[in-house]
Amino acid sequence: MGLTLTEKIIREHFVAGSLVPGEEVAVRIDQTLTPDSGGTMVCLQFEAMNIPRVRTELSVSYADHQTLQVGFENADDHRYLQDIAARYGIHFSRAGNGICHQVHLERFGIPGKTLLGADSHTSTGGALGMLAIGAGGLDVALAMAGNPFTFTMPRVVRVELEGKLGSWVSAKDVILDVLRRLTCKGNVGLVLEYGGSGVATLSVTDRATIANMGAEAGVTTSVFPSDEQTGIFLESQGRGHDFRRMEADSNAVYEKTIGIDLSVLEPLVALPHLPDNVVPVREAAGLPLDQVFIGSCTNSSFADLARAAAIVTGKLVAPGTSLVVAPGSRQVFGMMARSGALAELIRAGARILECACGPCMGMGQAPCSGGRSLRTTNRNFAGRSGTKDAMVYLAGVETAAASAIAGVLTDPRVLGDPITIPVPPGIEIDDRMIIPPPADGTSIGLRRGPNIVPLPSFPILADEAAGEVLLKLGDNITTDHILPAGAKIMPYRSNIPAISEFCFQAIDEKFPARAKAAGGGFVIAGFNYGQGSSREHAALCPKYLGIKAILAKSYARIHRNNLINMGIIPLLFGDAADYEKIAPGDRLEIKNLFMGIEEGRLNIHLLRKDGSSMTAAVLLPLRNKEREILRAGGALNCASSKRQEAMQASALPVWEGFRQTGNGMIHDPPEDGAGRTESPVPD
Ligand code: F3S
Repeated sequence: MGLTLTEKIIREHFVAGSLVPGEEVAVRIDQTLTPDSGGTMVCLQFEAMNIPRVRTELSVSYADHQTLQVGFENADDHRYLQDIAARYGIHFSRAGNGICHQVHLERFGIPGKTLLGADSHTSTGGALGMLAIGAGGLDVALAMAGNPFTFTMPRVVRVELEGKLGSWVSAKDVILDVLRRLTCKGNVGLVLEYGGSGVATLSVTDRATIANMGAEAGVTTSVFPSDEQTGIFLESQGRGHDFRRMEADSNAVYEKTIGIDLSVLEPLVALPHLPDNVVPVREAAGLPLDQVFIGSCTNSSFADLARAAAIVTGKLVAPGTSLVVAPGSRQVFGMMARSGALAELIRAGARILECACGPCMGMGQAPCSGGRSLRTTNRNFAGRSGTKDAMVYLAGVETAAASAIAGVLTDPRVLGDPITIPVPPGIEIDDRMIIPPPADGTSIGLRRGPNIVPLPSFPILADEAAGEVLLKLGDNITTDHILPAGAKIMPYRSNIPAISEFCFQAIDEKFPARAKAAGGGFVIAGFNYGQGSSREHAALCPKYLGIKAILAKSYARIHRNNLINMGIIPLLFGDAADYEKIAPGDRLEIKNLFMGIEEGRLNIHLLRKDGSSMTAAVLLPLRNKEREILRAGGALNCASSKRQEAMQASALPVWEGFRQTGNGMIHDPPEDGAGRTESPVPD
């Protein structure tokens, strides 16, 4: 039986567990990336582990999200991140150098390597044939410390691409089509592996757009083969030596296959407020637009922005519409300038921002009240733009540029003949804005601003928990709902007590005060709880406010991991109908938690406000590693006790099933894929 590309990479990096889909597997992590948004927390966690230097092949820290400096906080964070990078052996990509995923693709991604990033769109690296997975910050800190990453061995879905994209249709339309079919929920534990004759027609940056937004489907990651296009891209980056041809075996076995004929796709748009709310642009055409934003890690390559420039050349942005453009990297920015495309955008009235995330998560350029914003970004959750009642639409660059000129949502095909894109100037390789670490950073001092406060510590788990149901939520709650981003809140990311004051602000502004007054409690939720950003603070802040457990119908992958890492119990309804029987203000009691952790099920007792009561069966499906983490009260406690045990035993390994050799940390995979036989964690 042949292997998928995903299986090949996992086998090459196997450390422990089982290669059977649905079971726990641990892999060696070659590279990590940390954006500044979660980076300070990752660094505080890494510091707490007392390890002198990162143990990955490469770790890169990026200053890309928090580049708006309306106070000292973000600048302090960047200074701290730069110091930490030098001290612990991490490359530091300075503010102004670009968005982590775009820069990592250009300068560091290598086919066949594993990449773990503290950002859900780390999956962008799949465009180069990497196994690139987004995770919570603590998982990344642990990987930086040399621990393998434990996750559910994925089920691999083949996305078979045929044909060639037509004029005015782009890679964004491919992934919007995928999202339209798969939706944003129910895909936990899948990897989307692209193949078929159509793949060869897509450049690496096209593939990056597609792999990037696989995150919106909630899959573990997306992977493309490493082929001629990959070789061309790496050669253009002066990294031809990193090329390695990689593809699935012709007789590989997939969970299922989804076929897409690229030649019949048309321009698509995701309507507010979910990326899977997709319709053809022609069906929604004519909606007046207040703003168009072209940029983000999804669509900010030179090819993207050059297409936008070609469309607006000789025209002017519509009077009622603001066109905002942010290049993905300094390299892209430079190419735009040298090719003349930047001048055309400026002539057309575009407002050019620095190469950073910017408006994507509300870091500036919030739309007007009730405004309509069309964006080439990857998320259109309510409030994420920085304006609570804004209506955000997602589309490709062609649709965005055509719409900015028209002032209304426009199917770009009305523009007629295909655009001519300027020949890209040669890529100028200039890594001077990436600071490599010194060979020995032990003497580097760490400058912390007053807003960078130590991590709160949390106790080990108790066998019983009781408290009030503080909040009852519906389906598809995003991490933006739980802990919003934006220019006003992001600066407090290094200060958990301060940022916790914004927890659930989008839903109930009094939540933090109520939670503190009640001494903590519980949150009830529907399906797909915690979708969206990998934002670790969406677990850390509820933990800080005393949330003991979440009881939901289902969870998004990264957020469920983050809850466990923070020591919050992620319970599932045994009977979804029980959701209706619980109300805010009810009292919930749990006994025998340790037994529940072992058995994967337990009973909860509910005392209602009207005096009635009920007992409900709930599920707690966990992998072995997760049981260990929850019992310890969180991953940091767990790693710290492991390290102490290892030091007492004078042994280096800090993780079960993990061993250090002269060549790094390896473990041979079992020939037959067999491994532990515990119950798989259901999606
Ligand atoms: Fe940044 Fe938005 Fe991507 S916040 S990393 S551009 S999803």
